Amino acid sequence: MNERFAGKTFRSRAWFAKRDKDGFIHRSWIGRTLPPDVFDGRPMIGICNTWSDLTPCNAHLRAIAEHVKRGIWEAGAVPFEFPVTSLGETSVRPTAMLWRNLVSMDAEESIRANPIDGVVLLCGCDKTTPSLIMGAASCDLPAIVVSGGSMLNGHYRGETIGVSHLWKFAEEVKAGRMTAQEFMDAEPCMSRSTGTCAVMGTANTMAIVVDALGLSLPHNAEIPAVDSRRYALAHEAGRRIVDMVVDDVRISKILTRAAFENAIRVNGAVGGSTNAVIHLLAMAGRMGVPLTLDDWDRLGRDVPTLANIMPSGKYMMEDLYYAGGLLPIMRTLAEHGLLHKHALTANGRTQWENCRDAPTYDADVVRPFDTPLVAHGGIAVLRGNLVPTGAVLKPSAASAHLMKHRGRAVVFESIEHYKQRIEDPALDVDPTCVLVLKNCGPKGYPGMAEVGNMGLPPKILQQGVEDMVRISDARMSGTAYGTVVLHASPEAAVGGPLALVRDGDMIALDVDARTLQLEVPDEELARRKAAWTPPVLLVPGGYQQLYVDHVAQADTGADFDFLIGCRGHAISRESH
Ligand code: FES
Repeated sequence: MNERFAGKTFRSRAWFAKRDKDGFIHRSWIGRTLPPDVFDGRPMIGICNTWSDLTPCNAHLRAIAEHVKRGIWEAGAVPFEFPVTSLGETSVRPTAMLWRNLVSMDAEESIRANPIDGVVLLCGCDKTTPSLIMGAASCDLPAIVVSGGSMLNGHYRGETIGVSHLWKFAEEVKAGRMTAQEFMDAEPCMSRSTGTCAVMGTANTMAIVVDALGLSLPHNAEIPAVDSRRYALAHEAGRRIVDMVVDDVRISKILTRAAFENAIRVNGAVGGSTNAVIHLLAMAGRMGVPLTLDDWDRLGRDVPTLANIMPSGKYMMEDLYYAGGLLPIMRTLAEHGLLHKHALTANGRTQWENCRDAPTYDADVVRPFDTPLVAHGGIAVLRGNLVPTGAVLKPSAASAHLMKHRGRAVVFESIEHYKQRIEDPALDVDPTCVLVLKNCGPKGYPGMAEVGNMGLPPKILQQGVEDMVRISDARMSGTAYGTVVLHASPEAAVGGPLALVRDGDMIALDVDARTLQLEVPDEELARRKAAWTPPVLLVPGGYQQLYVDHVAQADTGADFDFLIGCRGHAISRESH
């Protein structure tokens, strides 16, 4: 046995150390292809894998796992790869967010129940990252993340394209500026390899958040999925998790308040997805770290967006890696007092030790602090009588001329109602109107779908108008853009003020002042509230019933009430 393990009693010894019937059972079954001396007291490392053919973004994670295993063996420990439910964002119905909490339970219980001393989390597509971290946080064993990495840049007719172009192309077709055949021709040009969506969508945002939290090795977020250096990083992560187990670097030592504050600021600096708000709040809740929606506004407000990556900017994740990656962005934040330098990371060094010498190779992709892409990035948290407990808007993806706007509401009671009405030439709408979508929140949809960036009416697009103010209790794909107010809380389905908006009401948005007001007298709102009846939720029972019964509102992370907190990794009983 490696001398580093001498004198240590790892958690897995509770399964493997005994020389009785129980020890026999544990060793004999799991160790049938292993030499007996692997049970001499060395660490056992889990590799929690979200590989699935149905999650093409994560399709290479089995190959990644093999490289993680090499590192674990090399460091003298024993790897055990295990699957948890995977979530392919583009295919899972009605929305992958409905299953995030389920996968977090899967991960948590799998980690706790098994004879492992630490865990490597393999994830990529949007929900796979927060769900694994939430589950691991509730167990508090040593953990390191290896993300899947981004797919290669798309190329269509001489233009570099990523998923954000899909929204643009769809609107161009509606506006008559792109033919249906050209749209179809673009399809195979976009997804050129395994890996996550190539822009700063939710998946890449969450990989960046992982690095900003300190849960990974440097460059984890940006190395492309198919780049050989990602496999080398996986090998190193395998080595490193063994060190973390030996040194008892549990996830709670990394996921501190400082780490979450760093992640919020880094999210602003990369123009990250609004989905990061919900996921970070949920992760913090699992770890017992106090974090609120107001922290997002306060900490992110003065952070300039330095990463010139779509949908806020013009480049792709692949370009970010070649330009130096996340490290020079973190260095720049640190040099301007916007990063907790001392925060610990998974390689045993502080964030500052990792980033202080990081160079930038392309100052247009990674902008200097003084010439940012957007002066005030971050996420704006809005409040007012329409959203008493908050709503969010991503300024870097919004239109400057709509940041202060007053307009007449055009209301859709559900996503089906929206689809019925939006293309109707008789729809009473003009470019100054505010589109309002209800009943798409955590309980209302259920699962808080990514429909908040509802497409504009064709007759508006045909006028050359590309953006309108939109408000909903839904989420928005991180690949999307527009002046879109999201996560309105409380949601319409529980009787939040959003439920009371009617066609023709005036709504005033002021992003600088962080306000969103429904200009309807209180007495009238009270009358409407008294007459309001809850919508019939489209829930077939089963897990979805559990979901609507226990999901929290968006402003606290939409976790289940009974999952919040860390339950540790102790298991006192066994079945034989
Ligand atoms: Fe998986 Fe975008 S669909 S990362």
